[in-house]
Amino acid sequence: MQILRCPAQLRLLEETLRKSLPTTLPVLGTVMTVARGNPAAHEVLVDSWPDFGIVLTRLRPEEHKDPRDHYTNQLAVFYRDKGALQALLGGTEAVVQARAFQILGLQEGLDEAVREAAGAKGLHVETIRYLGLMSPEPPRPRGQLPPGLRLAPVSPSHVPLLNATWALGGNARSRAFLLGLVRALPSACLLGPRGRPVSWTLLDAQGCLRHGYTVPAWRGRGLTGLTMAAMGRGLHARGFPIYCTVLPHNRAALSALGAIGFVTQPGTFHVIVGTPK
Ligand SMILES: CC(C)(COP(=O)(O)OP(=O)(O)OC[C@H]1O[C@@H](n2cnc3c(N)ncnc32)[C@H](O)[C@@H]1OP(=O)(O)O)[C@@H](O)C(=O)NCCC(=O)NCCS
Repeated sequence: MQILRCPAQLRLLEETLRKSLPTTLPVLGTVMTVARGNPAAHEVLVDSWPDFGIVLTRLRPEEHKDPRDHYTNQLAVFYRDKGALQALLGGTEAVVQARAFQILGLQEGLDEAVREAAGAKGLHVETIRYLGLMSPEPPRPRGQLPPGLRLAPVSPSHVPLLNATWALGGNARSRAFLLGLVRALPSACLLGPRGRPVSWTLLDAQGCLRHGYTVPAWRGRGLTGLTMAAMGRGLHARGFPIYCTVLPHNRAALSALGAIGFVTQPGTFHVIVGTPK
């Protein structure tokens, strides 16, 4: 595998990946984030260039300090032939090591291939299957900002609240991960009268809008559309795809997102989480 660092190569890769949307979403989003200042310290690898069989993006290995932390150790893959994936997973350049990870990708067969490779290393593997949603234009909120609320970036001081309310969080590792996102990448929240966030949206290293949340007392007033719209405008201005992932049974989120212009994409957005037993 070779690491692509040259801006012209990253630009060419970006153009190529765009042609295979939505399958390439998490890889394209990471390539764009890396090419634009690399605030999340990821890197882009290909098996060959320019005719690649597989693209892998990952957190730089030197940034992964805690071998049990699957939150930060994110990888995303897009492959043109399954053989390239098998070669990567079974190769000497260990992608799946005896340490926690999460691999993101939309292709059929990815889940099984990763399971096999990770099982051989003695890792426990769990796959979360999301729907991928894209908004072709910046989302249009359902209504105006209610009086008394104010739009602002999420601050590091809000992270304990974000962590406590995150269904997959609530621990020290997830708190550190959220803090990293808030410090490195754009975010938007609505602050209530006492300066406490009532609704928020973050962006991750894959350029995916994540962690959308509205506190229960404020739900059903279209607030998530306001933070999504603010973030979507920023992404659109920088040429990024506007996308997010939702669990198929999350009717409130699907309704909120559909109402502001998001369209469900074909396929499954896999998040494959490996943890040492
Ligand atoms: C999904 C969520 C972010 C929506 O935020 P919101 O600011 O309430 O969004 P909206 O006001 O546009 O409401 C969207 C839907 O929520 C549901 N809803 C409405 N009022 C509600 C209430 N009081 N309580 C719970 N859900 C309500 C409805 O299904 C509504 O859709 P509809 O108006 O078409 O019927 C919010 O419900 C939430 O934080 N849920 C828990 C975390 C989560 O699932 N995040 C999404 C991850 S992708």
